[in-house]
Amino acid sequence: MKKVGVVGVGYVGLTQAVGMAQLGHSVIAYDIDVEKITKLNNSNSPFFEPGLEEALIEAQSKNLISFTNDAETLIDAEYIFLCLPTPQDEDGSADLNYLLEAVNEIKDILKPNTYLIIKSTVPVNSWKQVEQIVEREDVFLISNPEFLREGSALFDFHNPDRIVIGATTKEQSQIVAEMYSNLSTEFVLTDNTSAELTKYAANSFLAIKLSFVNDIAALCENLNANSGEVLKGVGLDNRIGNKFLTPGPGWGGSCFPKDVNALARVADREKIMMPLLSAAIESNVNAQNRVIQKIVDKLGDLNGIRIGVLGLAFKANTDDTRNSPAIEIIRKLQALGAVISAYDPAVKAFEGFEVKNDASEVFIDADLLLVLTEWAEFAQIELSSHIQNMRVVNILDTRNIFELDELKKLKVNIIN
Ligand code: UGA
Repeated sequence: MKKVGVVGVGYVGLTQAVGMAQLGHSVIAYDIDVEKITKLNNSNSPFFEPGLEEALIEAQSKNLISFTNDAETLIDAEYIFLCLPTPQDEDGSADLNYLLEAVNEIKDILKPNTYLIIKSTVPVNSWKQVEQIVEREDVFLISNPEFLREGSALFDFHNPDRIVIGATTKEQSQIVAEMYSNLSTEFVLTDNTSAELTKYAANSFLAIKLSFVNDIAALCENLNANSGEVLKGVGLDNRIGNKFLTPGPGWGGSCFPKDVNALARVADREKIMMPLLSAAIESNVNAQNRVIQKIVDKLGDLNGIRIGVLGLAFKANTDDTRNSPAIEIIRKLQALGAVISAYDPAVKAFEGFEVKNDASEVFIDADLLLVLTEWAEFAQIELSSHIQNMRVVNILDTRNIFELDELKKLKVNIIN
């Protein structure tokens, strides 16, 4: 059992804290946000993440985890994970202020031989900035990027595809790897810079993959080809892989848009041309615009048109709407005069349009049903009874949640 500290209890920090406690370590998690810490001390997760609250309660009952607003309590920790947000700055680069301020706050209380581990996604070589602030030879700076997906963060913690640990010496990275020794996975032990770059490269690669998938799906629609079968045929090539091949209304969230932009800034700075990054971003805007165009092509003037929207979160199993394609698309539809009423299993309010408590309500008097997030439960909606409440039965399912045969049987106007 190691003594672990976690700084910042967002979805990365809280998952790391709870996960570490589940691995049997003793965890103290610190955040400046009083409300969050109060909630956590009352066993409530400040955000929705499947399984996290249950795991938190169990760890608390075993006295393996505690939460505090007092940075001084980190004094006993031998390993401290820095899990601070690194939002996008105005110029597209990542803003390191939260991270650097937190480091500044704790650097003098660290015991000799503490491992200070950067979990946050940080621009390449940020570890050097952290090192300069810490300015202590008896504190070891480690880069251990997170690869957690929102909505399955705790599962990903326990079932990682790999764990990347960057350090100045192999011995240091091996010591940190031991903390995860109960997890069966590949370890990549490397230097700090390579670890930091691995995270950006992975997220950007995935974003590029999705942009390509969305463009191929659009091409399929024009050519009357079956995108599901085309992408299945492509993904069965082991070199490509069959994951992350589902087309949608564009990718979003708090990571991909920010990380692709941040990698582009790094490449600019290093004078390395990476045109795929800007192309992926452009393709993503096109994916959203294609949704709008399809609706306008079918319905014409959208002024006063009622659109029932299913899904607001940027993807299923989260209540996160940051950079959600659903929100972007809704805003564009509103700008064209459409009236929106929406439902999302995890998002209960949003400024600027009505959010209903039940999926059935968005059908009422709608001219179009628009599916924007891939919540599995939407597939359980009994369309046959609800579509009767629509004014006109148009359906645009950007996530292919509904069975096509079922839609055809119901004789709805499928927009694609
Ligand atoms: C992403 C990465 O997948 C994680 O590995 C990484 O740790 C995380 O960012 C991060 O940097 O913190 P996340 O943003 O939670 O995770 O979401 P993803 O599951 O990757 O989905 C991103 C977007 O792609 C969503 O809008 C989703 O709907 C879309 N998507 C994903 C598709 O449209 N099709 C797919 O096949 C997969």
